[in-house]
Amino acid sequence: MTTASRPFVPREVGTARPRPEGPEKVRGTAHYTVETADTDALYLFPVQAGVARGRVTAIDPGPAEALDGVVAVLTHENAPRLAQDDGVLQSAAIGQHGQYLAAVLATSSETAREAASLVSVSVVEEPHAAVLDEDSPDVYTPDALVVGATDDTRGDPGTALSVAEVVLRQTYRTPMEHHQPLEPHATVALWKNEGDGDRLVVHDATQAVSWTRQALAQAFGLEESAVDVISQHVGGGFGSKGGTHPNTMLTVLAARAVPGRSVRYALTRQQMFDLVGYRPATVQHVALGADRDGRLTAITHDAVDQGSRIGEFVEPAAAFSRGMYAAEARRTTHRVVPLDIGVPTFMRAPGEAPGSFAGECAMDELAIELGIDPVELRVRNEPDVDPETGLPFSSRNLVACLRRGAERFGWADRDPAPRTRLVDGWWHGTGVAAASFPVPRFPGSQATIRAAVSGSYVVEIAASDIGQGARAALTAIAADALDVPAERIDLRIGDTALGPAGPAGGSAGTTSWGAAVVEAAERFRDKYGDDPDVGDEADATTPDNPWASDYAMHAYGAHFVEVAVHADTGEIRVPRMLGVFAAGRIVNPLTARSQFIGGMTWGLSAALHEESVLDDRFGHVVNRDLAGYHVATNADVGTLDVEWLDEDDPYVNPMGTKGIGEIGIVGVAAAVANAAYHATGVRVRSLPITLDAFL
Ligand code: MOS
Repeated sequence: MTTASRPFVPREVGTARPRPEGPEKVRGTAHYTVETADTDALYLFPVQAGVARGRVTAIDPGPAEALDGVVAVLTHENAPRLAQDDGVLQSAAIGQHGQYLAAVLATSSETAREAASLVSVSVVEEPHAAVLDEDSPDVYTPDALVVGATDDTRGDPGTALSVAEVVLRQTYRTPMEHHQPLEPHATVALWKNEGDGDRLVVHDATQAVSWTRQALAQAFGLEESAVDVISQHVGGGFGSKGGTHPNTMLTVLAARAVPGRSVRYALTRQQMFDLVGYRPATVQHVALGADRDGRLTAITHDAVDQGSRIGEFVEPAAAFSRGMYAAEARRTTHRVVPLDIGVPTFMRAPGEAPGSFAGECAMDELAIELGIDPVELRVRNEPDVDPETGLPFSSRNLVACLRRGAERFGWADRDPAPRTRLVDGWWHGTGVAAASFPVPRFPGSQATIRAAVSGSYVVEIAASDIGQGARAALTAIAADALDVPAERIDLRIGDTALGPAGPAGGSAGTTSWGAAVVEAAERFRDKYGDDPDVGDEADATTPDNPWASDYAMHAYGAHFVEVAVHADTGEIRVPRMLGVFAAGRIVNPLTARSQFIGGMTWGLSAALHEESVLDDRFGHVVNRDLAGYHVATNADVGTLDVEWLDEDDPYVNPMGTKGIGEIGIVGVAAAVANAAYHATGVRVRSLPITLDAFL
């Protein structure tokens, strides 16, 4: 166990700082993955399955190979074998619509695409299921969640509900959703033979160069040291670029067939709906038992998730209810229905985003049932210790967020009666919801600090900047840890050559990387003092948090939303949103504001627009582009206010930061639904909320 002995004094941390790479991005000189390809790199275009389940019975690359400019066509019959079967051209089996069946390599993108259309494929179809039915006989209990146990029961919730003075029981539904970063997933792969064996160099749009390296080394039977993964600039991730998906595997596999030559593959927007993950649909049953004063006596939250037969990812939706409110008795469970569709994955606030829709709508419904203000109901159920672990909180300022938000939003003037404010043909209403997100720390990020000329320092850590502002944040943290101005920090990230590192994910990047940088600075200063020689160097790996088993650590927030619903058309607008957060020390107010605004905007988007519609007949997403998959645009966003409270938490990490990448989205959809009820008297328990609900 190690911990920084020098107190971390924030000088650069807490100061608004533009992204250091901003000018390069604006000028177009910041190179994203496909822009790193050599001019003679080959273009890859895939052939994909048109059925949800079945087998390839014949595949003929002949007509494609005959096209001028085609260099190779790979199928499961001729592709190199992988050390493990990642479902990429390793067998004739088809497990999802859109699965890769072949890959064409050609000298131009147009040729690759045309050739792919010429590969003739015969398949036999097998029976399949694609759409979530919670009563499916195939439903199963997963072994565990990424955040802990699958099920968790305290006390006797059945009895507690049966004797409760007031019981609220409802079912909430959230849809399948797809991340759509502006930069699609993309890979450039090159196999080299340098005499002493194979070397694999991969540029990849990834949230974690080390994780990508690990996945590739395993699949291709290489030592990790024989794989370089580089990712300098990433145009958004949101979880979909956290795992290594078949697109990256396919590109590397195809490049194996043309050693010495780069292969590049950027997904089309439509392909973004096939193979790189999504947020699975959920059905969530919530029951709340309370006394007449609004004290919760029982909470049950049972989630059934859409899943995949070809791989497991469980959206831990019910886990949201494990730590929010005090109650003697509590049960949270997760079940999965395996389907013949692609594998779901992390998507901004996995678990909390859909889980808070159910949990925070249920609290609103209970408040109405009891005739208690929904802010007050939450305050009355504030726990003394973490209900999940029994540990004290390192800091918990949910009540302060609710109170401050209520004040700033003008909540005191609110008439609780629904459907009473008709203004110029629009029903107006307001709603509130709470948010939380844990403060995890990923182990194993290595930070290296080296003294350079003129009192400057090179700071190396294989962090990923997916647009969240890791460069700006880590520059500030390194400067304060070394007690020098930020101008003297030369930060290098995004390359496995810099050592292992955790992901930009789990709202844990700044915590995990920052703790390593502070530790390395500590060692550096212990060893060389504040006047080192050029070349002096020290490194460190993310230390364990010495307080991890003593305190529960979460960020909190409160959302206040105004909704207007047109009395005749049911059209729904959100003229005003306010988010108040307590998330530890804020490293960079400039990018932090963007993070919160981005999360809230996405929450609005999930509330009103986003839904991937599966066609059960073929197992594909029907609305598979940005014309059919609606996301909130500027015209959908009204006044959007963000505020954060000063919070001094000495336990989370040396910097006192909690992570802000995900909490902004948590609770937003519930606040919108609660406001829509207040406006119209119509309770919507299924996302997205569309105008037909009000007609
Ligand atoms: Mo985030 S969904 O942890 O990349």
